[in-house]
Amino acid sequence: MAAAAGIRVVPLTRSVGAEVSGVDLTRPLKVEEAERLRAALLDHLVLFFRDQAMTAEQHLAFARQFGEISIPPFAPRYGDDSAMMVLDQIAPEGEGGDAWHSDNTFMETPPMGSILRAVELPAVGGDTCFASMFAAFEALSPSLQGFLEGLTAIHDITAPLRKGIEAGHIDADLEQMREQWPPVEHPVVRTHPDSGRKALFVNSNSTSRIVQLSDSENAVALPFLLAHVRSPNFQCRFRWQVDSVAFWDNRSVQHYAVPDYVERRVMNRVTLEGDRPY
Ligand code: OGA
Ligand code: MN
Repeated sequence: MAAAAGIRVVPLTRSVGAEVSGVDLTRPLKVEEAERLRAALLDHLVLFFRDQAMTAEQHLAFARQFGEISIPPFAPRYGDDSAMMVLDQIAPEGEGGDAWHSDNTFMETPPMGSILRAVELPAVGGDTCFASMFAAFEALSPSLQGFLEGLTAIHDITAPLRKGIEAGHIDADLEQMREQWPPVEHPVVRTHPDSGRKALFVNSNSTSRIVQLSDSENAVALPFLLAHVRSPNFQCRFRWQVDSVAFWDNRSVQHYAVPDYVERRVMNRVTLEGDRPY
């Protein structure tokens, strides 16, 4: 651990989030540094860094030290580079980030993580909230936990893509994309492949129904779970500065972009490939 001794990890809350200092993400990480960050991500689920003036190439190179890059099926792109997604917003309400979600769960193998950097920010506002889906699951009664563990849910590209198209950020044919990305089925409670911990895995952007429940049961159960994950008990909130970076584990957290600004906000995101949830 000696070579990573400069890295400090300060938790923001008991269940989610840590500020990490003493590491320069613009350069290749030492093996010990990468290991330290991997361990910290496993413990804290989202890591926050300050003052990382990364070029797009450096951002991608940082990401590649943690896995393969995932090209999002739809996203506003950075020039010709489909690996870099750009969120450029001025009127963010209803555009998709302001609903609790994990990214792209309509994919059979949703991303393992995302690495987001602030490029341009409003003077105030535009924070991002993160919530631990381990903590959300663990807060349920053992009876409900047991019941949910046997269920699967449908995740569908339609609603999030429609929001992107309506907001004018995405230029895509909804019907063609729906054919290309048909609805997928994921467990309602997923097991984290690295830690074995169990996470609630339904979100308000992409989850359309729980397969084993009737319509009237869905009408109660799904809103109940989507409301449950919003508790401040499982959350932290990050106030951005230009060149702040957030690296989240998309398997165990949901996030929410607070749409409380009217000035321009520009963020760059690189997404990492994940595994099929089980
Ligand atoms: C994202 C996202 C949150 C934000 O990049 O997936 O939801 O605060 N961003 O911009
Ligand atoms: Mn997101």
